[in-house]
Amino acid sequence: MLIDPWGAELVEYEKVIKAFGLELFKADSFPEPNRLMRRGIVFAGRDLKRIADAIKKKKKFYALTGIMPTAEKLHFGNKMVIENMRYFQEHGAKTFLLVADLEAMIARKISLEEARKRALEFHIPAYIALGLDPKKTIFYFQSENRRLTRLVYAFSRRVTASEFRAIYGTNDPERMLAALTQAADILFPQLEKRMACIVPVGIDQDPHLRLTRDIVRRTKNEFGFVMPSSIYHKYTPSLDGSIKMSKSKPESCIGLPEDAKDACRKLKKALTGGRETIDEQRKKGGQPEKCVVFELHKQHLIEDDDELGRIFNDCKTGKLLCKECKQIACERFAEFMDLFEKRFEKAKRKVDKLRFISE
Ligand code: TRP
Ligand code: SF4
Repeated sequence: MLIDPWGAELVEYEKVIKAFGLELFKADSFPEPNRLMRRGIVFAGRDLKRIADAIKKKKKFYALTGIMPTAEKLHFGNKMVIENMRYFQEHGAKTFLLVADLEAMIARKISLEEARKRALEFHIPAYIALGLDPKKTIFYFQSENRRLTRLVYAFSRRVTASEFRAIYGTNDPERMLAALTQAADILFPQLEKRMACIVPVGIDQDPHLRLTRDIVRRTKNEFGFVMPSSIYHKYTPSLDGSIKMSKSKPESCIGLPEDAKDACRKLKKALTGGRETIDEQRKKGGQPEKCVVFELHKQHLIEDDDELGRIFNDCKTGKLLCKECKQIACERFAEFMDLFEKRFEKAKRKVDKLRFISE
């Protein structure tokens, strides 16, 4: 079994946990778990106890993740990484947000200038609009962080081409470089001080964590880095019911930003767990477990657990019909988008005041 971080298609969560020896995420081991953690959307990770302990004992640790400035906009699924970053930031992590401009250049053929422009005009303000505190975040572009170079070179001596092939299914030089750069991203903060680290990402990024952790083991004498931890969230499903929302299917994808009317139009066509007829649904109830609209409520739209529970029950008992339920989703989305846009404009005006590493 293989996960391709540059292609990532179907993932069966349980199989992945077994095949790659991930830990199941348990929300009760973390203080004040966020919505995604409480609801099992964050489902797995690596070395989680080290992070839970760091939070509880107020030890130093950092959270780090990367933006791929490939697309012009985000989609709903992307927002989960930031919500998890925000959780760790609020629980004491030093936070790093990097722009993977070198990776975008070699893996997606986007120029550094284009990547930079997109990141500054869109991705970074969007991440701030989603709740990352810019005053407490250190930003950088891979191409401008000189501390990465030394690590990429040092790490290149510790891996082999066949190992790359085993992990990624390819050993093209540019993929190898991108992967080593990501390992350097994850570890460079420890050049200053050895400490625990949490990387919140989608499950498609796990191969990079496996590689990084192998490198940590092999450079024990040279660097003595603390093993990085990770947490993974499930994907936001595509509106047509397939596993992952993707910009390649625009009618099944809710963009960020997206016009509330368009989003609502798409939502109305989404796959539900509803029955053939209204009568049948009143009698038998719907199937929220199989419903994309319910999944959106659960992952993104309904913050309050009791309210979510009510929707679930009212669906099950046939009290709530899909039409009303979709209407709730439309309204919540419009509220969310409204707030996002306000925060985005505000964040955009402040981009030039952010702290970037550039040496
Ligand atoms: N490869 C990541 C992506 O495709 C981006 C990335 C680069 C990253 N460096 C990272 C993510 C370090 C987490 C940690 O989205
Ligand atoms: Fe899904 Fe809502 Fe219909 Fe239930 S009522 S099946 S949760 S859309």
